[in-house]
Amino acid sequence: MFVHITGTGSYLPERVVTNDELSQQLDTTDEWIFSHTGIHSRHIGAPEENTSDMAIKAAQNALENAGVAAEDLGNVIVATSSGDYQAFPSVACLVQDAIGAKHAGTFDLQAACAGFVTALQVARGLLQLDPRPILVIGAEMMSRIVDWKDRNTCILFGDGAGAAVLQTSDQPGGLMETTLRGDGSGSHLISRTGGTRRVEPTPEEEAAGVLPVLRMKGRAVYNFAVKIFDEVLNDLLKRSKHVFSDLAWVIPHQANSRIVESVARRMNVPLSKFFMNMETTGNTSAASIPIALDELNRSGKLKPGDLLATVAFGAGLTYGGMLFKWTGALGQV
Ligand code: UT7
Repeated sequence: MFVHITGTGSYLPERVVTNDELSQQLDTTDEWIFSHTGIHSRHIGAPEENTSDMAIKAAQNALENAGVAAEDLGNVIVATSSGDYQAFPSVACLVQDAIGAKHAGTFDLQAACAGFVTALQVARGLLQLDPRPILVIGAEMMSRIVDWKDRNTCILFGDGAGAAVLQTSDQPGGLMETTLRGDGSGSHLISRTGGTRRVEPTPEEEAAGVLPVLRMKGRAVYNFAVKIFDEVLNDLLKRSKHVFSDLAWVIPHQANSRIVESVARRMNVPLSKFFMNMETTGNTSAASIPIALDELNRSGKLKPGDLLATVAFGAGLTYGGMLFKWTGALGQV
């Protein structure tokens, strides 16, 4: 039995915030942000919009693309670190109700920016037990959890959601090798308070009333990302007995174009194989890879049988990747 991605969808909020707009409230410039990250603008959710609203739109889009009815879904999984509620109800339950997935199981999965890749692998395991289609969504309202006074972090992130429908088939292809890793020794590098762990706010934070917010040691995360990226990619290729030139596209976590450029240099492979859209989306955490995949799919750049790789990394630290053959609607390969 093979597990295929048979449809994708995405949603980006209407409002676009440029670097120039940010520089009106922060000590930063478009030149600094773009040259250090490759990001020019990001989408920011409207005040009345929530993570589930974005996830629902991406989900409907993906179901339509796959030609799958919501009531035929076996499970709805949402990868997110910025759900509507701090813990429960899950975003997946809100999506399930809104789209009419009457017979589906639901849960959220938290693996930060590696959430979507992790959710794909979990879904793949579930499909061995229950072959009904699964909807996997990455959705993040990062604008609600960043500190808009911290120029080191807030300039990086954006809001959005991406989704994929997974279906089983006897047709060879679909999801192949997966690498998933955690490294909790780096847990202090990206964190968001507000859980049971007591973290004393600095006097400035107390005064600003900004907790709980995301804090990141950007340079250390950057070095980590560059180090693990080619390790993961080479591991996927080696285990599947492929070489880099077999890949049609690499879809990296859209964190920073400099990370991707550095990886391409280190691996001595063409940068043009790496699909990047962070210039206009920013880093949407668990949503970044499915949004990019949907953009690739809808732009007509994917052909059935194309070999694709994703690599993601984020808070935890979590990291990993997946190799898969593009299917599109079942029956095309
Ligand atoms: O999805 C989660 C995974 N996270 C990531 O992938 C993030 C990885 N890290 C990065 O992308 C980069 O480290 C950043 C973009 C966050 C920062 O770039 P950097 O080249 O590593 O800069 P830096 O942190 O070493 O800071 C260099 C300087 C500092 O000034 P001083 O101390 O040298 O005077 C910062 O204060 O740049 C300053 N700086 C800024 N200046 C203007 C930091 N942010 C800004 C800013 N505008 N927005």
